[in-house]
Amino acid sequence: MHHFTYKSGTLHAEDVSLAAIADAVGTPFYAYSTATLERHYQVLAHAFRDLDALICFAVKANSNQAVLATMARLGAGMDVVSEGELRRARAAGVPASKIIFAGVGKTRAEMAYALSEGIHGFNVESEPELIALSEVASGLGQTASVALRVNPDVDAKTHAKISTGKSENKFGVPYSDARELYALGATLPGIKLSGIHMHIGSQITELQPFRDAFGLLRALALQLKSDGIALEHLDIGGGLGVPYRGTNDMPPHPDAYAAVVTELLGDLGLKIVLEPGRMIVGNAGVLVTCVIAVKEGADKTFTIVDAAMNDLLRPTLYEAHHDIWPLAEGKSAMAPVQQDVVGPVCETGDYLAQDRALPPLVSGDLLAVMTAGAYGAVMASTYNTRLLVPEVLVNGDVFAVVRPRPSYDDLIGADRLPPWLSNA
Ligand code: LLP
Repeated sequence: MHHFTYKSGTLHAEDVSLAAIADAVGTPFYAYSTATLERHYQVLAHAFRDLDALICFAVKANSNQAVLATMARLGAGMDVVSEGELRRARAAGVPASKIIFAGVGKTRAEMAYALSEGIHGFNVESEPELIALSEVASGLGQTASVALRVNPDVDAKTHAKISTGKSENKFGVPYSDARELYALGATLPGIKLSGIHMHIGSQITELQPFRDAFGLLRALALQLKSDGIALEHLDIGGGLGVPYRGTNDMPPHPDAYAAVVTELLGDLGLKIVLEPGRMIVGNAGVLVTCVIAVKEGADKTFTIVDAAMNDLLRPTLYEAHHDIWPLAEGKSAMAPVQQDVVGPVCETGDYLAQDRALPPLVSGDLLAVMTAGAYGAVMASTYNTRLLVPEVLVNGDVFAVVRPRPSYDDLIGADRLPPWLSNA
């Protein structure tokens, strides 16, 4: 459920008209809804109320500090995958003790920084990383709390580029090597083995892959216990999908997901750590764009808008579907026509929708690309020397620009000419 609805004939984020935001900040822009963010967090927290659970928001999904601070106020921890994300989470006021550092390739400098901050722990993805972390931590006279990420070789039944739990994926250590690695970890200085981590993929829309993975997680936790390794937590990753096509493709409700976790892991006496990203922020955000022109091609109608693949990469990278809603509700009553909604970038892959039935559109029409709050702004680039899109956070009947549109001086002025090309 989200808080983007038509009121008085125009699309609103909560009680703020998106057209009014467009007037104030120009297009394109991302708009996030506080009420939607809070609702998703609370639905998930409620689903896990009977377990000792820590919800660590996956910062990679949306790293705007206003979003992080909204989450932190509700009590969320954070899952970070780089020093940059760690710094953002800290800047947004997240206590270090609630931050988990994951990621397949942490540098020694990043490990040292995270240790100096006093984070909750590291999710370690390989033997060399475990050894490096031991060296860094013991060199600093510290102890790193570690969960090994185990790859269960489970098919998450999602897009190949966002599946992480198959044996051919680069993530984690093979399930069959895990016990041996825990035994090694138990001998290493500066390492405290505290958990097991598993994350099998993203935009997962069935419970069975979770069930398969958590069954293996359970078996490993019991084996490690009998090996004498005293764990404190199980990190079950993120991955729960969101409905990209309205109510037509509803993923499992958090209650059903929590029931699977409780059934398979609830009796182990271990804390449960979750790393949700998309399900918290996915449909809490939209990308608002303006139609530049409509071009009748030989075979197709191209609606050219001012947002492009550099602003929202998901359609071209993952063949992802995002619903598109005109801001003017009256448009929806018009007979739809098939069209491609494309951006101005010089790539054939630059589209937000292909062969989509939408009302006939004209220059100046405003559109909302729905469910763009996760992996939207964070994956944006300045390709074609386009300015990064500003971000706006709505809260009830007010909004604030939480990342302004940069100036062309910010963008172009970042380059430096070498002495041999400079006239100065
Ligand atoms: N934990 C780990 C270790 C992860 O790798 C991820 C996402 C998450 C948690 C959060 O997963 P979520 O709950 O958001 O599904 N850019 C792609 C998604 C990449 C996901 C990467 N890892 C997209 O736009 O679909």
